[in-house]
Amino acid sequence: MEYILYEVKGQYAIITINREKALNALNSQVLDELNETLDNVDLNEIRALIITGAGEKSFVAGADIGEMSTLTKAEGEAFGKKGNDVFRKLETFPIPVIAAVNGFALGGGCELSMSCDIRIASENAVFGQPEVGLGITPGFGGTQRLARLIGAGMAKQMIYTARNIKADEALRVGLVNALYPMEELLPAAEKMASGIAKNAPIAVRNCKKAINDGLDAANMDDALVIEEKLFGDCFETEDQKYGMAFFLDKNKEKVKEAFKNK
Ligand code: CAA
Repeated sequence: MEYILYEVKGQYAIITINREKALNALNSQVLDELNETLDNVDLNEIRALIITGAGEKSFVAGADIGEMSTLTKAEGEAFGKKGNDVFRKLETFPIPVIAAVNGFALGGGCELSMSCDIRIASENAVFGQPEVGLGITPGFGGTQRLARLIGAGMAKQMIYTARNIKADEALRVGLVNALYPMEELLPAAEKMASGIAKNAPIAVRNCKKAINDGLDAANMDDALVIEEKLFGDCFETEDQKYGMAFFLDKNKEKVKEAFKNK
């Protein structure tokens, strides 16, 4: 792959958008390679993903403006669909995805981060949806996910004004969970990924599905049924039997021994 690096680190993996000369802007090839990378993640081994950008300046500075500049109406729609399809795959990916936002997260970059489950950022990060300044709307899910994440009022302000916000404001409005000095960002993401990987994997996946599907449900009653089914599923797993036996039994060694080969 030319623009995507994929590194497996035990039970988690790091995807790096690697097009540093263009501040990791997303052209069709980057999107295709990201799509293929996700298709090839070994879900029997990997329990969490981290997505970041190459270098110390930019996570992703948006969709590729050069490529978009000559698109027709139909081509624009198709390009939007291409981005939306990959980002939706990421959003519904069975395992948690952490965005380690190392600099500019503009347009498609902000949208990429919002398709991840969790966003943490470096102190020099800048978020924004500058599209209306270029004569377009956000096209990779920004009009939908930003409003869901930070509320319609603040999302509309950011999108209509095309004003970028710095990391501290992104933290204040809830667009990111935490900020780190640049050199501490990836270690923090890795610590979080390995912490997630230590927990019962089916339970973690079911949590992601319950939260995502519940947010998309028509009402709270439907959402709670989604939770009940995924909660029930867990009782068919060895993780549940082990986790609860370990908690309840005073003889921890006996429980470990009993579940050793399961
Ligand atoms: N597309 C294509 N190339 C880009 C790019 C983008 N989104 N962002 C940066 N680059 C390229 C620049 O053209 C430049 O290339 P050259 O060296 O070949 O000239 C290189 O990256 C470095 O960029 P700058 O010289 O501009 O760096 P800077 O430090 O002066 O500015 C910046 C950094 C403020 C991020 C500026 O690059 C910028 O404003 N980029 C565009 C941001 C943007 O508008 N993003 C939204 C795109 S639209 C979109 O994403 C639609 C959607 O929702 C799907």
